[in-house]
Amino acid sequence: VKVELGERSYDVVVGEDALDRLGDHIRQLAAGGRVVVISDSTVASLYGEHALSSLRAGGLDASLLSFPAGEPNKTLATASSLFDRLFALHPPIDRDSVVVALGGGVPGDMAGFVAATALRGLRWVQCPTTLLADVDASVGGKTGVDHAAGKNLIGAFHQPRGVFIDVRTLRTLDDVQLRSGLAECVKHAMIRDKSLLAWIDERAGKISEREAESLAELIARNVEIKASVVAADERESGVRAHLNFGHTIGHGIEAQAGYGAITHGQAVALGMIAACRIAERRGLVDVSLRERLASLLDALGLDTRREGLDADAIWRIMQHDKKARAGKVRFVLPTAPGEVDLFDDVEEPAVREAIANLG
Ligand SMILES: NC(=O)c1ccc[n+]([C@@H]2O[C@H](COP(=O)([O-])OP(=O)(O)OC[C@H]3O[C@@H](n4cnc5c(N)ncnc54)[C@H](O)[C@@H]3O)[C@@H](O)[C@H]2O)c1
Ligand SMILES: [Zn+2]
Repeated sequence: VKVELGERSYDVVVGEDALDRLGDHIRQLAAGGRVVVISDSTVASLYGEHALSSLRAGGLDASLLSFPAGEPNKTLATASSLFDRLFALHPPIDRDSVVVALGGGVPGDMAGFVAATALRGLRWVQCPTTLLADVDASVGGKTGVDHAAGKNLIGAFHQPRGVFIDVRTLRTLDDVQLRSGLAECVKHAMIRDKSLLAWIDERAGKISEREAESLAELIARNVEIKASVVAADERESGVRAHLNFGHTIGHGIEAQAGYGAITHGQAVALGMIAACRIAERRGLVDVSLRERLASLLDALGLDTRREGLDADAIWRIMQHDKKARAGKVRFVLPTAPGEVDLFDDVEEPAVREAIANLG
């Protein structure tokens, strides 16, 4: 799949042997022959050797740097420790060196941030290993780290030169993480592609069984959707905001639950249902869309209800969201299956009603 960004266009390759071919893929890019793989501890132990041997077989001089897995480690302190190790490598890295991000969204954002800032910018490629990173983080060029004041507050846009997705890596991913990525797939279908909604419905069983062909097709179709949205609006001034469908209330639910209590995708799944409810009450869509969404999420193993949501806390968090501009909460609401629009006039009672309806 091609991500069209003018001079910064790149390909996303989806296949069953992408890691085996990594060395071949990036040999041309790494003119100086020097490659640094950045990964987290879990993924490094599962796939680090595989990536290194593929790069070395391609004639490249490859090193692996890893940091402890998990969102709490996506910090400037971790980036700083990676810089220390990066600049201590022998032979030293230079502007021709290439960074490879190996892992989920956390190593992706971290390696991308290191690549964006080391020596004022190194070329980089991504080898995502979670479904979330495959269909979401691999397209768009957002890189960064968290700050105590909030997630992803420090970072840069830095487009990779290529993305190589090896669907075999999804075999070791746990069910909870797989489902988190599936929620983003449903989101893409809801905002752009009603035929994908039907396709996911039909393949829900095969997808949950992780049948390689179904996963590869799912990923390719989702990357296409995300790529087309990003190509239309790289810096998020307009239609890219559609990707926030389900995220306004979803982020509130995620933050209120606290780190690790609920996955991002599960929170987004609930947020999408709440957004459908709001749209329904405004007469934009009828109840059948929410019912269809809920049955699809359910078939994929995602919860469609959650007890004990605190509407006050969620509403407060929503208003402090980085994406809320001038105190206004901007909503992405469905207008038909596979279509959404932006709304700036959703009032607090409608949001509370939709949250209460999730319980
Ligand atoms: N840059 C972007 O556009 C973008 C988009 C979406 C999300 N993100 C970021 O991505 C992060 C979430 O991504 P994530 O859910 O992939 O998190 P993650 O990278 O922390 O991965 C989740 C867990 O799965 C493990 N793991 C990864 N691949 C595995 C595999 N193949 N087998 C077994 N275990 C594996 C990881 O070690 C980790 O413990 C967040 O920090 C978010 O901000 C960025
Ligand atoms: Zn998301």
